[in-house]
Amino acid sequence: MSNTVVLTGIKPTGMPHLGNYLGAIRPALALAEEPDTEARFFIADYHSLNTVRDAATLRSYTREVAASWLAAGLDPEKTLIYKQSDVPETFELTTILMAFTAKGLMNRAHAYKAAVDANREKGQSEDHQINMGLYTYPVLMAADILLFDTDVVPVGKDQVQHVEMAQDIAGVINHNYGEELLKIPQARTSEALMTIPGLDGRKMSKSYDNHIPLFLPEKQLRKTIMKIVTNSQAVEEPKDPQDCNVFALYKLFADPAEQAALADRYRAGGLGWGHAKQELFETLNEVIAPMRETYDALMADTARIDAILADGAEKARQVASRTLGRLRRAVGVA
Ligand code: TRP
Repeated sequence: MSNTVVLTGIKPTGMPHLGNYLGAIRPALALAEEPDTEARFFIADYHSLNTVRDAATLRSYTREVAASWLAAGLDPEKTLIYKQSDVPETFELTTILMAFTAKGLMNRAHAYKAAVDANREKGQSEDHQINMGLYTYPVLMAADILLFDTDVVPVGKDQVQHVEMAQDIAGVINHNYGEELLKIPQARTSEALMTIPGLDGRKMSKSYDNHIPLFLPEKQLRKTIMKIVTNSQAVEEPKDPQDCNVFALYKLFADPAEQAALADRYRAGGLGWGHAKQELFETLNEVIAPMRETYDALMADTARIDAILADGAEKARQVASRTLGRLRRAVGVA
């Protein structure tokens, strides 16, 4: 039996937040540790180019994401980490996939439809600010996945449709040439960790501006945690831990004994919100501090990040060129 290939792409949007860490980074790194697994994580910088239009910003976002995954425990000796743009085979495969991708399939993509709907609502033309990169986004993503004979794609719920499109496109090609040229990938979402509450209790998201950046300096982390929205119960009142944004985050970091202890203090009364937040800060900081140290060291030595990515790209290209060669011969350009 060959190893299970796990692959996922990360759009560089700057330093990840706690929700990204719990919902994506930590589970993906855990998956990479499973036996008989080959994990590949890459930074989808060309996917970001659709929206990030400043070179220095894109460059910095990319390094922040790479440094974050490395700080969170990705071992580049065991797990490939590379930049999408460093693997040009991706873009040739994209061209091949384009020829087999129905335009109607792209019309149905949720992200594209949402952009069209937003334009309609604002009374703009349907195509307003929609570039071809956004429209064909799922094809590039399919190339990312199919290039590596991927078995499993860990993604958030919003990306499942894109993985299904990769299945569709691969199926069309396999059917046309009458052989299994491209492996059909499966999406995997981690349901339990889907809703990580932000400062205001809504899902943590950069776009709601309710997020806690993962590697904030200690003082700023504390200040941010103090902003978590709570009800107006007085210190002495008994409180319900299950109905509290502070406790919801605490649960994700504390061990069961610590959780039970804090829950008891909630119910007993006499615990103010400031105290609860301080508990959360201390527990969180304990988990984050060692990672933050690695992150800061890497960001102070970007040449090292670049070298790790270059090394990853070299290894990735060995796999990529095999798949692309197979496809080139199959379609008749080689
Ligand atoms: N579209 C994904 C996102 O927005 C990022 C991505 C690009 C990706 N290519 C991928 C994810 C391939 C999984 C597999 O988060």
